[in-house]
Amino acid sequence: MKQTTRLLAGSLLLGMTLFASEASHTPAPCNGIDYPVGWRHWSVIALSHRIDNHTERVILGNDVAIEAIRHHQTNPWPDGAILAKVVWKERRLKRWHDAVVPRQFVHAEFMFKNATKYRKTHGWGWARWVSEKLQPFRGGDHVCMNCHKPVASHDWVYTEPAQFPKRVR
Ligand code: HEC
Repeated sequence: MKQTTRLLAGSLLLGMTLFASEASHTPAPCNGIDYPVGWRHWSVIALSHRIDNHTERVILGNDVAIEAIRHHQTNPWPDGAILAKVVWKERRLKRWHDAVVPRQFVHAEFMFKNATKYRKTHGWGWARWVSEKLQPFRGGDHVCMNCHKPVASHDWVYTEPAQFPKRVR
């Protein structure tokens, strides 16, 4: 019995240590928004290539966002939808120079839809984490909204989902 208790206490402690070390690696919040752990498992919506500053971007969505796209309900997007844009510097592929591919990671940024909670910021929470260290962007969310203004009538979203084959998932 004693041994079981000790074993249990031991594994509890181990669990807590693991949890603590994982928690301490989670980046600090940005604009009061928590870092969305798990975004690397989201689905691809589209990609873009900025030719002026030589960066490549992937736009991802959580499950709510992907369902909304499937049902053409993206203006407005439903509460709970999260869109991500992940940016890398580009480089030429060494073994095939006509191809450009991602090099160093620049930042990951997110739009969190909640029409009530984020009423003052057009229904979206805006947050960005910068560099491999994932440091919260300190410039403020007005920077984001200013640049997204041209697409205000599209619920502040630029991305048009890429075409995928209809029947095969
Ligand atoms: C210089 C203009 C500019 C600024 C500043 C900017 N964005 Fe964007 N954003 C864009 C453009 C243009 C796109 C479309 C995709 C692309 O071409 O990169 C985009 C796309 C996005 C997307 C994918 C959904 C969509 O609207 O297409 C997210 C998420 C996003 N931005 C979040 C942010 C956040 C958060 C900030 C502020 C920290 C921000 N953006 C600041 C121009 C900007």
